Formats: sequence, C-alpha cells, structure tokens
Amino acid sequence: MGGVESIETASVDELRALQLDRMRDVVRRAYEQVPHYRSRFDAAGVHPDDLRRLEDISRFPLTAKEDLRQNYPFGMFAVPMDRIVRIHASSGTTGKPTVCGYTKNDIEVWSLLMARSIRAAGGRASDKIHVAYGYGLFTGGLGAHYGGEYLGAAVIPVSGGFTERQVQIINDFTPDIIMVTPSYLLAIADEFDRQGIDARACSLRLGIFGAEPWGEGMRAELERRLGLEALDVYGLSEVMGPGVAQECADSKGALTIWEDHFFPEIIDPATGQPVADGDMGELVFTTLTKEGMPLVRYRTRDLTRLLPPANRPMRRMDRIGGRSDDMLIIRGVNVFPSAIETVLAKDAKLAPHYVLELRRPGSLDELDVVVETRAALGDAERAEIERRAEHQIKVFAGVTTKVRAVEPGTLERSQGKAKRVVDLRPKG
Ligand code: DLL
Repeated sequence: MGGVESIETASVDELRALQLDRMRDVVRRAYEQVPHYRSRFDAAGVHPDDLRRLEDISRFPLTAKEDLRQNYPFGMFAVPMDRIVRIHASSGTTGKPTVCGYTKNDIEVWSLLMARSIRAAGGRASDKIHVAYGYGLFTGGLGAHYGGEYLGAAVIPVSGGFTERQVQIINDFTPDIIMVTPSYLLAIADEFDRQGIDARACSLRLGIFGAEPWGEGMRAELERRLGLEALDVYGLSEVMGPGVAQECADSKGALTIWEDHFFPEIIDPATGQPVADGDMGELVFTTLTKEGMPLVRYRTRDLTRLLPPANRPMRRMDRIGGRSDDMLIIRGVNVFPSAIETVLAKDAKLAPHYVLELRRPGSLDELDVVVETRAALGDAERAEIERRAEHQIKVFAGVTTKVRAVEPGTLERSQGKAKRVVDLRPKG
C-alpha cells in the first residue's frame, strides 16, 4: 500500500452516500444477529427500516460499556466463533474486562486504517517503525504492528517495558518512527539521559502517540527532547483499537476521523441528546464496517467536538480534553476507580473508606491506594493485607499500585459525593 486512497480525495457527498449504505447495513446486521440490539431497538420502538438518512441514527438507542459488560464475554458478537480470528479486551468498570472480537475482514480494515494513519502522519514504506505500545490484550501493540506491516514498513515489535533495551534498540536499529504512549517515551528519554546518550541525536524522525490524553506542553517537551515530530493517534478497543482518528501531518492541531468506517456524533453527556458540530460533548461512534462486534451509537465517554474537514472529506475532532466518567489512564492503562473498589470490598479486613492518590515522581504516573482497615492491626498483618490487595488489584484492575492500609478513622469523611481520586501530579 503506497499512496493515498480514493476515499481521501472523494467529495463530501460521496462520503455521505457511502456512510449511509454502510450504516443501513450495520444497523440491520446488529438487529438481526445480536439479541441485545434487537431487544433495545424493539423497546425503543425503532427498526432498521427507519434509517433513511444519516441523521436518523439519533433515533436509535445509545450503547454503553455497561451493555458490553452485561453481555460478557461474547454476547455482543454478531458472527459465530468460527469467523472470529482475534479477541482483545480492555478494562471494565468492575473488574471484568470489555471483550472485542474481530473477523478476518475486521483485521484487514484495521490494518488498512492504521496504515492510512501512519502514512497521513508522514510514514513511508521505507521507514523502520519501533513499536513500544504493549502487545497483548491491549490493542496498541498489535494495532500499530499490523498497520506498519500493511504500509510496507519494517516493524520492530519491541512492546513496552525493559527501558534500557528500548534505548539500545533505538541506537542500534536506528528506527525512523516510534509508536508509544507519550508518557513512556518520556521515560525512555530519561533513560537516554541516564546513560549519557544524547536523545536529540537519535534516528527518530516521527512519533505517533496516543492511548492517553496529552497536550501541547507534552508535544513541545517530546519534540525538544527527542528531536522528532510528535503526532496524535486516537482509538479505543471497543470501536477497533488505535487508528480511529489521526492527526495528519498536513492538518495538525486536530485529528481526522476515518469517517468511511466510523460515524461520529457528539452528545450532551448528561441528557444523551445530540449537539451541533462545533459544540463540546461526548463522542459517540457507530461502526460502519465492523463484522465481529458492530457497535451502534457507542458512548466513548471521551469529551471533544467535531470540526470541519481539512484536506480530506472527513470531519476532524479536537484533541481529547477529558472524560465524562471517572476513568483514569495510568501509563496507558485504563483504570476505573470502581474496579479497584470492587477488589478492596472483597477483603473482609478492609473498610469501604479509600482514596486513590495519583503522583508523578519522575516521568511516569504512580497510583497509591490508601484504604482503612476495619480494626487496628499489627505491622506484619498490615503488610500482608497490603501485598494481597496490590496483587488482586494488579490481576483484576490491570494496574500496578502501592497499597497503604491505614488505621480506622484516618481518612477524611466526605460531606457529599466522596472524592475518591486525589491528583497530586504537577500541573501543566
Ligand atoms: O488506548 C487504543 C490506542 C492504542 C489508541 C494506542 C492510540 C494508541 P483502550 O485501551 O480501549 O484503547 O483505551 C481507549 O484511551 O477512550 C481514550 O479515553 C483514551 N485515548 C486513546 N487515545 C487517546 C488520545 C486504546 N490520542 C481510551 N488522546 C479512549 C486522549 C486517548 N485519549
């Protein structure tokens, strides 16, 4: 795959016609193949035949992460397991992950869109791409990997972790592009400094960063320390993975949504009502081509606004400014405080009083869980409870934490809504 795809130079009318065809098809498939959608559509009094124009999508019910949880693990799949070729998962709200299934064609489309993203960011088949997103149930590593290969680039599947080795591979393999969470690249930059190697002189020309919110301050810092151009890639597992929207080299400052495969809407998170293009709200996607797990009006919980197209017919979106739920992203890992609460509640020795403290001692975020015990405990028992809770949180919420069990009555009691997360990270 070398050049620009024809849809990138199509007219807006052509794009809208393609979207309507695909939307009618996906809404029908969801209704016919997934009992959850059939019962939801029936309850809302809508039928796939009611979809005559793109705007009619707003008559259909919204889908939330909770719906995926209720159909855990495979109830939202629209094809039999013999057509599924890959399963990924992301953090759920209560300890059970959200599961996503892909057909062969879904993997093909994802590879194509990730390749399109890398190319739009300035990547070429002649490039070497260092992938330091994690490989596994998380979609970052494999998503970037398949996209890089589809583009024809030489992919170096390093995955996350082993920071000293990341530096060695950058030095020895001289990659042109790195794909990684922005916070982890900062940690890699620190490791360059520690080893006394000038990171600015490294081979990297371009970084494609996502999986967590990052702003212009971080962009300036990464560009300065690594001497590369930093661009933003957005995506989420439920909708596909990385490559749903990409900040293109020719239209920086906002991300182009690959609208031929994902139809975006913005809603008011409180009322669920659509808002006009240009207004801030919660991003909602209907997948237009997905076969394994089609989604109709999926609430991403990410806050942004839709912007007019730039050099392609697709609309763009602002960089993600926050979320309409309490999900934290720590080193690229999604963490719901409710999932940690569920783990703590299972230990009879712990009281339901806890606070999550977010810190950033160096480049990376750290999460401390401060929780009260039900009775005063000796040091040995306290230490054992802390280790056990850390292990359980790692297993069920997917995040490494430091647990501090404190005496009953230590934590401040809230007067209203409990404030569970204290952000002690430096601002800016
Ligand atoms: O983070 C997919 C991904 C991997 C995207 C690698 C980009 C690069 P999840 O683990 O399901 O999937 O987490 C999705 O992460 O709803 C956002 O809240 C957040 N997120 C992802 N990309 C960005 C970004 C992957 N560029 C959740 N800016 C999403 C801000 C982002 N937040």
